[in-house]
Amino acid sequence: MVFIRKMSKQEKLIVEEIIRFVEDKHNRSEGHDYSHIMEVCRYSIEIGKRIKDPVDPFILICGALLHDIGRINAPNGLFHGIDGASRTEEFMESLIDDLKTIRKISRIVVRHTPTSMIPPQAPEEKIVFDADALDRLGLMGMVRGIMGKEGTMEHILENRIAKRMADYHKLYYKESRKIGKPLHKETLDIVTKLRKSLAKRAKQIHEIESYKLILEE
Ligand SMILES: [Fe+2]
Ligand SMILES: [Fe+2]
Repeated sequence: MVFIRKMSKQEKLIVEEIIRFVEDKHNRSEGHDYSHIMEVCRYSIEIGKRIKDPVDPFILICGALLHDIGRINAPNGLFHGIDGASRTEEFMESLIDDLKTIRKISRIVVRHTPTSMIPPQAPEEKIVFDADALDRLGLMGMVRGIMGKEGTMEHILENRIAKRMADYHKLYYKESRKIGKPLHKETLDIVTKLRKSLAKRAKQIHEIESYKLILEE
């Protein structure tokens, strides 16, 4: 199914306004920069066009554009879904009066993260969840996930590997899995290479430690 309707001229103007808003806000946001927002938006449209569920294009695009707004000035971002939902409501209320539509958009924002009490329900919520996960796959997704993280390199990489391996299988729609298949393969290749490098590094460290012991004898 293609989208259930076309966006009105007024809605297109609102979308342009939101794009300007998120471009300004996300420009200085490390791993969740403007390019991530636009990629999630692009994936959302692609999934929305392929699935059978009825999808409202305006609600979907607004939700995709604002999904990470809670990350602004909140680097660790644990509750960025909840925070982002209230920021979304505040911002959208300055643009439109329709509270029902605003609630549908803010639910996309809160439900795209695991900190939401309720997982995605509406098609638009599931789509943005999937689109966000698709942009975590592949080399770029891996690099994005590592940016700004604290801890030892080994810990960060192992943590990312575990999360990236799970992402593909958590996608809601089979259409999302089809879109993400080449990126999932890229992730698997990267994980194989990373694991090999980590093992080699650990072996080398062990060797130099033994060497140190020999020197002390
Ligand atoms: Fe997010
Ligand atoms: Fe995101």
